[in-house]
Amino acid sequence: MGILFYLALAYILCSIPFGLVFVYLVKGEDIRKFGSGNIGATNVFRFGGAPVGILTLFFDALKGYLPVVLVMKAYPEQPLYHVMVAIVGILGHSYSIFLKFRGGKGVATGLGVCLALLPLQVALAAVVFAALFLTSGYVSLGSVGAALSLPLISLLTGVPGLYLLFTIAAAALVIIRHQENIRRLLLGTETKILWNKDREK
Ligand code: G3P
Repeated sequence: MGILFYLALAYILCSIPFGLVFVYLVKGEDIRKFGSGNIGATNVFRFGGAPVGILTLFFDALKGYLPVVLVMKAYPEQPLYHVMVAIVGILGHSYSIFLKFRGGKGVATGLGVCLALLPLQVALAAVVFAALFLTSGYVSLGSVGAALSLPLISLLTGVPGLYLLFTIAAAALVIIRHQENIRRLLLGTETKILWNKDREK
């Protein structure tokens, strides 16, 4: 199968808004009307609870991971194909064909594609995420920090040039999709997620 097949697969699969679907199934509501309005795992966690949030994280990551693994197996010597499918996957989640080209912020799907492309580097970026999130309570701060750290980690660990370019593009996409969160973080009005529901604010 040609590269177009893998690109189409990545776009269509990653367009599936699992968070939206799960919240509809569990609560009969449109997640886009609640919290941050995002369809991603964080907002699903906020509105639908931890199990649905975790399920969303898992499936949003899996849909990013699968097409990249498949194209890597089909074209092991073509890193350009790997990064094209990876970027198209993140774009599919953020500009979904099923949501009139709207969508999520690309973090969980980015995690999935990076687990296929750069597992060591994404594990280190996950440490950055955890440190920022656990100390601040802001998932968005963790997401933005992890996205920014990934190109740096990739540079320091000597990943191939095309993969490094991919991390820069992926970080840019995540930042673009977090503009509202960044504005709220700067204004001090971003919503925290804390382990104890009563402490949520
Ligand atoms: O991955 C998305 C997260 O960084 C922010 O989500 O719902 O707080 O805008 P949310």
